[in-house]
Parts: sequence; C-alpha cells; structure tokens
Amino acid sequence: MVQSERKIPKDAPVIAIDGPSASGKGTVAMAVALQLGLHYLDSGAIYRVIGLAASRTGLDLDQESAIAAMSLNIKISFINERVFWADEDVTDAIRTEPMGAAASRVAAHPGVRQAVLQWQRDFCKSPGLVADGRDMGSVVFPAAKLKIFLTASVEARALRRYKQLKSKGLDANIDSLLLELTLRDQRDSERAVAPLQRFADAIEVDTTQLSVVESVEKVLLLCEAAGIRSRGLS
Ligand code: DC
Repeated sequence: MVQSERKIPKDAPVIAIDGPSASGKGTVAMAVALQLGLHYLDSGAIYRVIGLAASRTGLDLDQESAIAAMSLNIKISFINERVFWADEDVTDAIRTEPMGAAASRVAAHPGVRQAVLQWQRDFCKSPGLVADGRDMGSVVFPAAKLKIFLTASVEARALRRYKQLKSKGLDANIDSLLLELTLRDQRDSERAVAPLQRFADAIEVDTTQLSVVESVEKVLLLCEAAGIRSRGLS
C-alpha cells in the first residue's frame, strides 16, 4: 500500500495525524500547526468537497470512474481557514453528517484517491506540514517525521459531535450520531485501499479523557521529542 514518495524537503518535516471521524484530529492538528508555525492539510475536506460536488452534479457516489475523472480537475482551495470549491465558500456545507458520509463513500474509490495523491503531497513545503486524515502516515507521507494515531471511544466522539452541532444551532440526535460514526468507522477501516488503521510506526494518542488543550499539549510534547520545534527547525 505504501507508494513511492518524492523526497520530503529536509527543512519541511511532516507530522501525520490520522484517526477516526470526530476524534478531534482537525482541531488538534490545526492548533499544532499554528503553534509550530507549520502548514496544515485537512485531507478530509478534500474528500468532503468531492462528495459535495458529486452529489450536486448528480453523480452516483458509487460510480468510481466518473468521480475519479471529476476529482482530477476539481478546483479546491484553502484560504484563511475557509474551503472553496471553485469560487464558492463550502466550509459549512461540507461539515454536515450527510457530506461526511458522502466523503467516506467517494474516498473508498482507489481512482479518486489516486487523483488527489500528488496534490496532497504538494502541500509539504518549508517549514513543514501537519497533515490530518486517515492515510497521511501510511500512504501520502510514509516518510513523515512523526506519525500519530489520534483516537477516542466512539461514545466520546459521538458526544463531541453532538455538542458541536448543537452549538451551531443544528439538529442532532446522539443515537443516530453514534450509529453514523460506527458505520463510517467501519467503511473507512474495511475498504480495500488506504484503510484507516493504526500502523506500527504511529504513536497512539487516546483523547477519550483529554480536553482539546490537553490533547494539543500531548501532541506538542511528541513533536518536541521527535525534534520538531517551532517553525519546523530541529
Ligand atoms: O476527517 P473527515 O471526517 O473530514 O473525513 C471525511 C471522510 O473522508 C472520512 O469518512 C474518510 C475520508 N477520508 C479518507 O478516506 N482519507 C483521508 N485522508 C481523509 C478523509
């Protein structure tokens, strides 16, 4: 499953943070990137935009070749913590549960993953990158300097998602969130290509009992131990 990787620039260490949905990866990865002055890649957002674009254009989410072809030319940009599909700000539209499920379905297609592989690797620039997803340490950046598997119990993750949705004034039901997360974990872990797994070279950080601040601190300590300091200078 490990594919060849263009050499990571020496002055651009990669911190790969993989883990299941709603484990807090995004929040933690972004905070770590900010603290260390590194670039940040939210790879889940890429699959979410592809899922949104496929749904909006009426493509069947199971049609691998059509979605892969669309993914090759899709225009996604990240500007000031906002996500754009062409000129449209889709930051909020991609964060819904249906779009999470759509992302998980399109992400199961090898052709789609291949279409966005090099583009993701191009995010690795000096002074370094924090990359969050499912296959950052296994496929996209196998030579990452630090690989973290950030996880939490499915109950804790469902509760966090519930609070997040409620705080945005959105409708949420804890039982259906629990079921959706369980199904998504299953699809992301059992797919044939780049499945979500904890690999032997990744350090597990279980955030079930940790606050966001504690989780960020823990990851920053691991960065320090790996010789990655502010602005990636080691
Ligand atoms: O991290 P997230 O919940 O935003 O990701 C949405 C979906 O995208 C997730 O269910 C699985 C998929 N994904 C993936 O397959 N590989 C990645 N590197 C990131 C996300």
